[in-house]
Amino acid sequence: MITPREIIQKKRDRRTLTSEEIQTLIQGYLSTEVADYHIAAWLMAVFLNGMKIDETVALTRSMLSSGMLLNLSSIKAKKVDKHSTGGVGDKTSMIVAPIAAACGVTVPMVTGRALGHTGGTLDKMESIPGFDPRPSAEEVLPILRSVGAVIMGQTDDLAPADRRIYALRDVTATIESIPLITASILSKKLTEDLDGLVLDVKTGSGAFMPKMEEACDLARSVVDVGHRLKIKIVVLITDMEQPLGRAIGNALEIRECIDFLNGNGAEDLETLSLALAAHMIRLGGRAKSIEQATKMAYEAVSTGAAADKFRQIIRAQGGDEGVVTNSDLLASTAFIDEFRSPSHGFVTRCDARLLGLASNVLGAGRNRVDDCVDPSVGLWLEKKTGDEVKRGDVLCRIHWNEQKRLQDAMPFINRAFQIAKRPPMHRPLIHAVLEGLK
Ligand code: URA
Repeated sequence: MITPREIIQKKRDRRTLTSEEIQTLIQGYLSTEVADYHIAAWLMAVFLNGMKIDETVALTRSMLSSGMLLNLSSIKAKKVDKHSTGGVGDKTSMIVAPIAAACGVTVPMVTGRALGHTGGTLDKMESIPGFDPRPSAEEVLPILRSVGAVIMGQTDDLAPADRRIYALRDVTATIESIPLITASILSKKLTEDLDGLVLDVKTGSGAFMPKMEEACDLARSVVDVGHRLKIKIVVLITDMEQPLGRAIGNALEIRECIDFLNGNGAEDLETLSLALAAHMIRLGGRAKSIEQATKMAYEAVSTGAAADKFRQIIRAQGGDEGVVTNSDLLASTAFIDEFRSPSHGFVTRCDARLLGLASNVLGAGRNRVDDCVDPSVGLWLEKKTGDEVKRGDVLCRIHWNEQKRLQDAMPFINRAFQIAKRPPMHRPLIHAVLEGLK
């Protein structure tokens, strides 16, 4: 039998691995015959030399079969989820899940924590007092039947190979690899027994794949592998040059979601949330066209049905649903500082990556996997790219608790904003939409 060393060597020398070799490696890793150092070396070889589509399909299958699958076959409605490759201020999951569920789609959303400079839906939902992000396998089905949506973390049994490999990638500088991201996302999502998946691939400074060309390659890879695994996928390539909406940080982002569901949303957040929700509604078979689905998504918000659904999701998972009517129940900081514009002009940069890093330094993210996040800290953007400003106008409000953290975050905030005499070129929010199996 081929040894881990030979498999690493083959990939190092740019040769193609067979499905059996990939399966041997992944199974061996789970049964501890293959060590962390083997996988770390192999990940770097994949990062440097890439994978053919057959190899990515085999890796996705091996990671998927490393654990159990949710059995949702007793639910008649179509099951559709949405996933993002990671962004700053990207709170659309908590908006689209209730909208799609309010429109009759079942949403079994398995989601993750903050990673690097990006935020995580799980950390955000945990800032709702009492919310339990880990319902047991027995609880998931009744919640989905009665509410239509669940927002939960990856348990030990769902794609455990992805969880372990992901943690290794985080510390071995092998996150930004198209085949590894493709297999990671699809292996997790396929455990949910889905009929369809809407994927938001981010591009721009705050994305893991900042260049448009790389984002397009990633989108194509997910669509092609998804096609081979017979799941309907729609991919939107969307802009992450500046944060989405106004809030960055866990409780602040929940507050902005609640504002949105109650009818007060920032324009970019509304555009993207309605687009993603509409694709979910159409993939879920509740609308024939994207136009009809968009109208349904819009109405779910304007009639209050989506806000009500968010309340039900929170209640079903033990949280305080009162936050939906009174967001002051969410954690808040001891201090709020104003960061002001040094000059007249236009905001030409409001850098997503730097602002994500600033928010994490304030305490919204982690340096080590076992760090605790501070739910209350973060940033609220008063001005964004393209806005005209006068000297002294507030660019953002900094919500902070610890002086030292504030000091460390300030250089990032200072560098994130640029003010110039002329307005910047317009960047579209949705760059492209790709579709796999129809
Ligand atoms: N999201 C995932 O689930 N996996 C990756 O590798 C990157 C983003």
